Amino acid sequence: MTQLWSTVADWLARRHALAGRSVGFVPTMGVLHRGHASLVERCRRENEITVVSIFVNPSQFNDPGDLERYPRTLESDLALLDRLGVDEVIVPTAPELYPNGYRFRVEPDAGSQVMEGAYRPGFLQGMLTVVLKLLGVVRAERAYFGEKDYQQLKAVTEMVEEFFIPTKIVPCPTVREESGLAASSRNVLLSPDGREKAAWLYRALTTAQGPAEAWAILDAQGFKTEYVEERWGRRFAAAYLEGVRLIDNVPAGEIRRP
Ligand code: PAF
Repeated sequence: MTQLWSTVADWLARRHALAGRSVGFVPTMGVLHRGHASLVERCRRENEITVVSIFVNPSQFNDPGDLERYPRTLESDLALLDRLGVDEVIVPTAPELYPNGYRFRVEPDAGSQVMEGAYRPGFLQGMLTVVLKLLGVVRAERAYFGEKDYQQLKAVTEMVEEFFIPTKIVPCPTVREESGLAASSRNVLLSPDGREKAAWLYRALTTAQGPAEAWAILDAQGFKTEYVEERWGRRFAAAYLEGVRLIDNVPAGEIRRP
């Protein structure tokens, strides 16, 4: 039976009682999907205790409208985590995690000011800050992050190294629908038509000769593209469809150049 914790103090007392057992952690913002389920399953295989957090972190949203629109499905999320055999779920309020407001912040390095770092001012800073707080609260041996948010994964991995945080960051492959569409909490905001069309993001990334061609494919399908870029041995894109911001990336090896 999953146990639910909403205050840091109660969770820390529980954490103390778990001393000596290996603890794995999956941080989330809820609206759980197959991607999260795969992180949880791996976490359960590799640790005695699996902890999941659900917290829609205000400090990583640069657009208040985006924060407001962000879907929230706590009841079905908790039911899924129970079915998946998660031991502990932390659902803190903002004042629990930010008792003194947004006072101290993690400043990402200059190399991060591209793609998500450039198009979503404050996102990396807010995301790194909450991840640092959560890692401090959960005190896990391992924490699991999906490669769909590759820039997030990379920044978190580097922060953990720089600050000597004793949690190993475990990268996990992107989970896709049969169409190729990457599992994402934002997919529920798309119409059934939009969801079909959204698979073009993956198709464009994997089939285009280069970023310009990927951009043209997305244009033709009605996306409003923010960027298509190649770096770190991968190809990345961010684009709006039906007003929903979607991101995806693939390793160079997955690109089927004709
Ligand atoms: O990927 C997410 O859901 C969030 O950015 C995270 C890592 C839970 C931090 O709020």
